[in-house]
Amino acid sequence: MASREIRSGVFHVGAHHWDRRLFDELIPLPDGTTYNAYLIKGSEMNVLIDSVDPEKVHELMANLENLGISELHYVIANHAEQDHSGGIPKVLDKFPEAKVVTNQKCKTMLMELLHLPEDKFVTVKDREKISLGDRTLEFIIAPWVHWPETMLTYLHEDKILFPCDLFGAHLAGSDLYADDQSRVYESAKRYYAEIMMPFRNLIQKHLTRLEEYPIEIIAPSHGPLHKDTAFILDAYRDWTSDTVKNEVILPYVSMHGSTEKMVNHLIDALIERGVTVKPFNLTKTDIGELAISLVDAATIVIATPTVLVGPHPAAVYATYLANALRPKTRYASVIGSYGWGGKMLEQITGMLGNLKVELLEPVVVKGHPKEADLVALNRLADAILERHKNIGVA
Ligand code: FEO
Repeated sequence: MASREIRSGVFHVGAHHWDRRLFDELIPLPDGTTYNAYLIKGSEMNVLIDSVDPEKVHELMANLENLGISELHYVIANHAEQDHSGGIPKVLDKFPEAKVVTNQKCKTMLMELLHLPEDKFVTVKDREKISLGDRTLEFIIAPWVHWPETMLTYLHEDKILFPCDLFGAHLAGSDLYADDQSRVYESAKRYYAEIMMPFRNLIQKHLTRLEEYPIEIIAPSHGPLHKDTAFILDAYRDWTSDTVKNEVILPYVSMHGSTEKMVNHLIDALIERGVTVKPFNLTKTDIGELAISLVDAATIVIATPTVLVGPHPAAVYATYLANALRPKTRYASVIGSYGWGGKMLEQITGMLGNLKVELLEPVVVKGHPKEADLVALNRLADAILERHKNIGVA
């Protein structure tokens, strides 16, 4: 996509990847993505902020050429992951005089990932500034959004924050800005859930630090930019807060209908008690939808039959992801049926070590659920409601 001017002398020069449908061979991208790179023409220095995925680097190079850039002084590397750094070698081929400006940790990673020589780098520390003549960049070291080397770049005179992945969204639209906030909200929340949620506590601290900076535009490296900065900052404050909602996430899989009958009974029991429930049939669901729901929910109940003496592999996958994403979920339980025996319950609960949850009484039954099993599910719904009331969300 052609470059677009954000402010006088500040351009979006990145690329759209409209039809990309998977990131890291893992994360579904229903709306494609963008790799946003930015060019700042200072009175003395031209600076590129991040590059793009190698697959789209020709679009970045064409944008620089169309803007008549004949000299590039700095390439800022906010993050070493290849969807932003992977185009840097091509940029340096074209502009051999340019230096890569980044922090020490990111420099080490870029030397390993891209085989860049050490003399190509200028390293900066937290709060360090560089002058472009009439403009000033400041670097804010902000580790673990979502790698250990990440930093943010702030353009003082224009009050633009370039936070790389932070505040991003995998959303390839033609709008430069997040004008359609309801659409961007869902996309940004999905992105937060899949990428940022494991680092929630650190991101809370970064949000506090950013309060020191007057910010008029947030220009992330994926998805639309934000002129209404409160929209995305407030959303992040909410998602990273310790507050949970009166919701139960219910990922399930059923082979012969027994576990599904238990799931349907528990759904009705929770609805009767005024608890919101979000079931996900793991044979059909987009795993990203499950991740989004984990951002806010107070409780997760995993429902699985027993196969080959353990949980169904689809339930293993969902449980592994839920554990890796470290949501702020407070309570967990397991329900399901088995034919002759096995270790389903021990294996599922053993996979939840990252979650700081209270484990509520599981309901695991032999064969098709009987009346007493349905009563046990009612007790589980009662226990969930009681816990939700105790923390003031029901
Ligand atoms: Fe968009 Fe962590 O890379």
